[in-house]
Amino acid sequence: MKTTVGVGLLGCGTVGSNVADRLQRERDIIERRSGVRYELRAIAIQDSLKRRSSALERRLFTRDARSVVDDPHVDLVIEVIGGTTDAAELVERALERGRHVVTANKDLLGEQGPRLQALAASRRAALRFEGAVAGAIPIVRTLGEALAGDEILSVAGVVNGTCTAILSAMEEGAGFDESLARAQRLGYAEADPGNDVEGVDAAHKIAVIAQLAFGLAVISPRIARTGISSVTQRDVARARMLGFRIRHVAAVLRTPDGVLAEVAPVLVAESHEFARTADAENVVQVVARDAGRLILRGIGAGGAATASAVLGDVVTVLHALGQGRGFDLRGRSNSLETASRTEPFFDRLSRTVELPNYAIWDDALTNVSMQALVNA
Ligand code: HSE
Repeated sequence: MKTTVGVGLLGCGTVGSNVADRLQRERDIIERRSGVRYELRAIAIQDSLKRRSSALERRLFTRDARSVVDDPHVDLVIEVIGGTTDAAELVERALERGRHVVTANKDLLGEQGPRLQALAASRRAALRFEGAVAGAIPIVRTLGEALAGDEILSVAGVVNGTCTAILSAMEEGAGFDESLARAQRLGYAEADPGNDVEGVDAAHKIAVIAQLAFGLAVISPRIARTGISSVTQRDVARARMLGFRIRHVAAVLRTPDGVLAEVAPVLVAESHEFARTADAENVVQVVARDAGRLILRGIGAGGAATASAVLGDVVTVLHALGQGRGFDLRGRSNSLETASRTEPFFDRLSRTVELPNYAIWDDALTNVSMQALVNA
């Protein structure tokens, strides 16, 4: 049982600076909730010249991220660097050394989640990633823990805040480029915003969702994706005249014949939950055999919302360490089955003659009764 847990933070950007700030300012509440004391031992940064919150203790900064992972007094590594260039090696190194890891890295989980989860399990280390999918919405816990006793039929939603921010701003008459620049200013967009607008980010998230929902080693390069870069003002306006909004929808469902998954801009009826999103709001719809249809809605991007999810995972890991418990909370994703290929399926949806490039979203596809139709 641990009395003081050593914490190392990798990354101090939009999310990391929020996490660091709160680990320092809200120590009392985090320690009370988790039941253990912790010590923030180091913060790995990339750019020592960048301006940062004055509340952060400078002595904690280091440019040597490996030294944080290798420090034998660091029990818990929080990775918020993002991308896979450095983060993949560091997370793997941390898990190999038996460190517990909390990460918000969807690229990493989307591309390498099955392998990293196997590594974590082999070292009896925690690998938690609530912040990787849909920001503040607790979809990882919902699928991996709350619904671990049910059978999930489908998960679909709007999971990229930048796309929603751009599409909803275009509805108000703003141009694509100015809407993207605003999303970048507000800290929603990725370092490479091409990942947002080309659907790469949403593909990572739906792959992680497939891993959790179906216990399958689905990885993001296998997901069919279309981005929003070719959506025009004219399309947005015409969709509205027809009673639709254009939203970038990500969806996955398991049928007896395999996994269907796709991300693309589609037409969504104005009254639908997916259409009623604006700015960086995400919405995720889960259909489960016994629980039925669940809708989760919240802020999907930005430093504070993502830090909230990261800190929730931190409290869970601290609490388990304080109790001397092992990490067996991963539900279906404990041992992922090898996935069959995923097939795109939006071409099975209907279209209008006015906007033939866009499928019309239909919830019926995500219901068990319609799965028979899909398979017919
Ligand atoms: N760029 C992402 C988005 C950030 O816009 O949703 C949150 O994952």
